[in-house]
Amino acid sequence: MNPLPAYGVGMSDREIEWVPDASEVRSYYDHMGRKLDILSFYGLPAVDDLMTNADFDLAQNIFELGCGTGRFAERLFEKYLPPEARYLGCDASEVMVGLAQSRLAAHAKRAQIVPADDTMRLPLLDKEADRIVSIFVLDLLGEEQVAQFFNEAYRSLSDDGKLCFLSLHRGANIPSRIVSALWSALFAKRPMLLGGCRPIDLDPFVDRHRWQVMHRRVMAPFLVPAEVWILEKRHA
Ligand SMILES: C[S@@+](CC[C@H](N)C(=O)[O-])C[C@H]1O[C@@H](n2cnc3c(N)ncnc32)[C@H](O)[C@@H]1O
Repeated sequence: MNPLPAYGVGMSDREIEWVPDASEVRSYYDHMGRKLDILSFYGLPAVDDLMTNADFDLAQNIFELGCGTGRFAERLFEKYLPPEARYLGCDASEVMVGLAQSRLAAHAKRAQIVPADDTMRLPLLDKEADRIVSIFVLDLLGEEQVAQFFNEAYRSLSDDGKLCFLSLHRGANIPSRIVSALWSALFAKRPMLLGGCRPIDLDPFVDRHRWQVMHRRVMAPFLVPAEVWILEKRHA
């Protein structure tokens, strides 16, 4: 492993953390393939919470960073999206891009999956998307990348859009804090055993001058805590 230091914008020393480099993450998820859906069972209740609180029935242009196998997008098409809505997903793993493309083949006219590069520049025009989604991805990025994601989301989200994300959290009660602490300890020694993901506090990245918090919830149904956020742009 060749970990890179990742320094957060405006973060305290406490927040400076090491993350695996992008090529390691890519090759981990290339090898993981379809098994990702089974191994990420613990996040499903948080995904449900995000889905039911983001008004996807009113969405027209959805973008997802780190779409994995396309499971979330498939559920969106099956249950939530209006017939004219379009979806664009990206992923750093070529294997995930292929799996998501096959999974969404039935919706190919409205769904596109593209490879992500390492720059964190989202493949969107200014204000193009009205939903920007990221599920269990920010928790594997370095803090500079997370800060860049928020800048890019602000640029690419329409004025009435919603930024919807969830990630591993440090826990909201004693049992989930213990699990989170164990996870962090294992991450410090063997990050790729955990897919490069670690509990992260995203609160310092949410600039309250730019964003209004519409929904925020920590859930730990299998004792693994995850935090769901839905933000809207703050209007003057
Ligand atoms: C923990 S998985 C979550 C996948 C999916 N969102 C889900 O919930 O099933 C993380 C995903 O993020 C992708 N990924 C990692 N770094 C990325 C980046 N910089 N840009 C886009 N995708 C990335 C990985 O390839 C992997 O598919």
